[in-house]
Amino acid sequence: MQGETNQSLSSLEIIDRSSKYIAGGVVSLNRKVSPGIVFDSAEGSKLYDVDGREYIDYHAAFAPYLLGHNFPYVNDAAIKSLSDGWSLMGSGTNYWEATLSQMLCESVPSLELVQITNTGSEATAHAIRLSRAYTGRDHIILPLGGYNGWHNEVARKVMTTIDEIGPRVSPGEYPFMAMSGGIPEDTKKVVHIVNFNDLGSVEYVMKKYPIACVMTEPVLQNVGIVSPNPGYLKGLIELCERHGSLCVFDEVKTGFRTGLGGYQEYCGVKPHLSVFGKAVANGFPLGVIGGKRGIMELFNDPDDKKRVLIAGTYNAHPVNTAAAIATIEFLRRDGVYESIDKSSHLLYDGLKMLFDEKGIASTLANNKSAFCAYFCNEAPQDLHDVLKNHNFQLDLTYRQELIKRGVYHIPIPCKQGSVSYSHTEEDINKTLEITREVLKVI
Ligand SMILES: Cc1ncc(COP(=O)(O)O)c(C=O)c1O
Repeated sequence: MQGETNQSLSSLEIIDRSSKYIAGGVVSLNRKVSPGIVFDSAEGSKLYDVDGREYIDYHAAFAPYLLGHNFPYVNDAAIKSLSDGWSLMGSGTNYWEATLSQMLCESVPSLELVQITNTGSEATAHAIRLSRAYTGRDHIILPLGGYNGWHNEVARKVMTTIDEIGPRVSPGEYPFMAMSGGIPEDTKKVVHIVNFNDLGSVEYVMKKYPIACVMTEPVLQNVGIVSPNPGYLKGLIELCERHGSLCVFDEVKTGFRTGLGGYQEYCGVKPHLSVFGKAVANGFPLGVIGGKRGIMELFNDPDDKKRVLIAGTYNAHPVNTAAAIATIEFLRRDGVYESIDKSSHLLYDGLKMLFDEKGIASTLANNKSAFCAYFCNEAPQDLHDVLKNHNFQLDLTYRQELIKRGVYHIPIPCKQGSVSYSHTEEDINKTLEITREVLKVI
């Protein structure tokens, strides 16, 4: 290995080494896809593979790159943090975590206090534990088709088949279908799965069990883009308040990508707790949990029987904290979100026109720069709509053919596409040209 660089090996040799030493040959289950391209570098809107091929990227590593890959303003801040001598002191607080926390509270109206983690999963785990401690209850409600991380309570199957979930049940609930082995049966019993956009089922479950919290992505962005019906999110918060539960928005995907105030500000509601990740540090690992002071203060309750543990060697690591500060600073600049919106709509309008020309049933579902081309006539309202109406095989072929021609969407049907600040008009036009070619062969 001495003298070897990342460019010395062919993609096959790298795949071979990975499969010898990594359990499953790839880290993080969702990255196991076909074609299994070995990427080598990325810049702005582009990915480059080991064989020197260039791709316009809409995967954005599962969405964090809102500004683009290796974005200079963010990278410079991360590099400067090291050259300025920041290190993980692991004792007391510091200027940078104080500053980032202030910026987070200034950005999202519902955040009165925050805590900082490394990942979204850590933040959702803390939100559940905090809700349980605050309410003294164990049960939680999650939506069908949502994803909130890998830990026991939330690791249910995201994408299922219609046979697995059966017909729509309302009011009612669905069994917890685990996405992982090793989840205790007792855990499954306290997690209640209901359809998105179905307040009746939330209330039905709340009347049957003592619910600590309802945790939901405000827009389901792990089965494409499934938007809340008007009044749904407000209704959810009201139901929680009526039944003594907390409403937790998982804004790991929607936060900062929708706008500085998250999806919650965009639709004018204030959940009790919220969780952020991904775009908040433009690709550097950082998660956030925050919300109402009276709930968040349980992390520091003087009574150690009530106090909720939050700990993590790497919480608010200086490099990631510097990246998050720089990301928010950049996002605050005039015209940044407008520019991303403009590129996004150029793409959406162009794609819609091409699909219509070809006569393919399609709906371009989007939440700002996050989008999904569903091959069906209407935007889905829940997982049942996605499973019943979307043409999964066509979606997979579409993605694979785009990849062959240099446009990268992860080859998993329904996975969100993400436009960034780095996507240029030229990128979008080239994407549309390539899409036109693809539509001739699928
Ligand atoms: C909505 C949502 N919540 C939580 C998570 C988990 O975040 P992480 O992968 O940083 O642990 C994800 C990851 O995709 C997500 O999409």
